[in-house]
Amino acid sequence: MADKKKMSVAEILAAARAADGKGTAAPAAPADQPAESAAEPAATTAAEKPAAPKSAPAAKPAAGGARPSVADILAMARAKKEAGDAPAAAPAAKPAAAAKAAPAKPAAAKPAAAVGGPKTGVQRDTASILAAARAGAKPGPVSKADAPTRPAPKPREPKPAEERAAPPRTVATVPPKPVKPAKKGEEAEDRRGFLQIALGSAMALGFTALSVTSGLFTLGLARFMFPNVLAEPPSKFKVGFKDGFPSGKVETKYVPQYGVWVVNGDFNGQQQIYALKTVCTHLGCTPSWLEAEQKFKCPCHGSGFYKDGVNFEGPAPRPLERYAIRIADDGQLEIDKSRTFQEELGQWADPESYVTV
Ligand code: FES
Repeated sequence: MADKKKMSVAEILAAARAADGKGTAAPAAPADQPAESAAEPAATTAAEKPAAPKSAPAAKPAAGGARPSVADILAMARAKKEAGDAPAAAPAAKPAAAAKAAPAKPAAAKPAAAVGGPKTGVQRDTASILAAARAGAKPGPVSKADAPTRPAPKPREPKPAEERAAPPRTVATVPPKPVKPAKKGEEAEDRRGFLQIALGSAMALGFTALSVTSGLFTLGLARFMFPNVLAEPPSKFKVGFKDGFPSGKVETKYVPQYGVWVVNGDFNGQQQIYALKTVCTHLGCTPSWLEAEQKFKCPCHGSGFYKDGVNFEGPAPRPLERYAIRIADDGQLEIDKSRTFQEELGQWADPESYVTV
């Protein structure tokens, strides 16, 4: 309903100012509508409850006929707003005051109905209003004493053996430790150690080489102090009896060991046994006895020597040489290589250079 529209403080002030400027008759017209609307609740509430205590200030301007000041109007409006039940007497005294109190009435009636009791005119505190609201509304938080006892929790059902069995343990593999990076100090220390080892090795190598050289020098000096000793066969050796050397026969079996031919031949009309040296008189090669050709043939340059050792072909400048030979005490022929006899020197005539047969 439009006539029940609640007036704001600004409208009330505007109406009051208008009343100040124009007198008491002018504001009565706009206040007619709220006066009518306020009369309806006033009829119902006036029979049920006594007149509002705040009706006295509202009736003051109507009785005296004097214009209320702005302060009085504000005070009355605030008093009505706080009381909430004063509009019943206001409209009867002054339409303007009733119009001011009318908008506040529906708002005050709602909480009274909400709490469920008739209006008594007694101001209720916030705690009682909240308690009444909780009683008729949703249950709010309650204390431990007021709280209903909770049902006892159900006992747990025993799990089957398969579920109770402990899960297989997984062996945690320990990851390998990361390689610790070498610090700068350690790297420098390693480098220093490497240099020390390298220098130490070089010095050790030098000293080793010096020691080896000194040892070799000492060995060479000792070798110089003790000359070579050739393991040569003895210069004298026996070759057997004269019967073992038939006439005209050249024995070659002593060539490899002693380097000598033992010959039973004829020299200047005399049958002799003599020992020829197996060295070519050209450049020292070893000639070979050729039985078919009855000569000694040098393989180096082709010199040829007869059975008695006289040279006859090739570059050889002179005959072969003879070793000394004699009959030893035991009757065997003994050859002495320490003595030689040369034909060009007439030495073959020496009886020590042959053995007569
Ligand atoms: Fe014997 Fe020359 S060495 S012929």
